[in-house]
Amino acid sequence: RSRMIRGLLFDLDGVIVDTAKYHFVAWQRMAAELGIHFSHEENEQLKGISRVESLERILGWGGIALSTEEKQRWMDQKNAWYLECIAQMGPEEILPGVSEFLAEARTQGLSIALGSASKNAVPILERIGLLDAFDAIVDGTVVTASKPNPEVFLEGARRLGLSPEECCVFEDAEAGVEAALAGNMYCIAVGKPDHLGAAHRVIQSFLDIPDPVETLLALETD
Ligand code: BG6
Ligand code: MG
Repeated sequence: RSRMIRGLLFDLDGVIVDTAKYHFVAWQRMAAELGIHFSHEENEQLKGISRVESLERILGWGGIALSTEEKQRWMDQKNAWYLECIAQMGPEEILPGVSEFLAEARTQGLSIALGSASKNAVPILERIGLLDAFDAIVDGTVVTASKPNPEVFLEGARRLGLSPEECCVFEDAEAGVEAALAGNMYCIAVGKPDHLGAAHRVIQSFLDIPDPVETLLALETD
């Protein structure tokens, strides 16, 4: 089936910057205080998942029940620790090839939106100097349904004035790939093929696709 791609929808964490390591530090600090074991493998399962759902999963793994107020307090605490971690972030943390890819995509007339679960997306984009690279920002302050629900990407397409079929999503998380496919979008996964095989294509990094137009022409023949 052929597609004409006019818009690109980018996940943030794990696609534009590697913030998973900072989320891990902050969640692990919380887990330690609650006496819950929390490893890198478990952290993997939180990729693309909202803050509240991440907390619920960690508490579930620890078999701990908390009141709504206590949950809110831990989420605020976790976010404070996370903000400490990302306070020093700068443009040097942009993943390889991303800035060049975004600039080239814009030059070639593609529309670009962010589709992230994070409530910290705007401050992060400001800090790394990429806020202006996006025509629309859809983040955790906008959407209510977490990936794998396609809401975040459907809203991104809508804000770009495009149909979902005209959009290509870049995702590093299994839940995000599922969301893109559920939304009827073309999906390029960034990372290791192990968990991301459902995507239309998997790349190791944006260095694999330096030329957006070449990539998009390839899509049309799919
Ligand atoms: C996603 C991350 O992008 O955002 C998740 O992959 C994170 O790990 C989620 O939990 C929510 O982020 P934040 O910044 O609002 O806590
Ligand atoms: Mg991600």
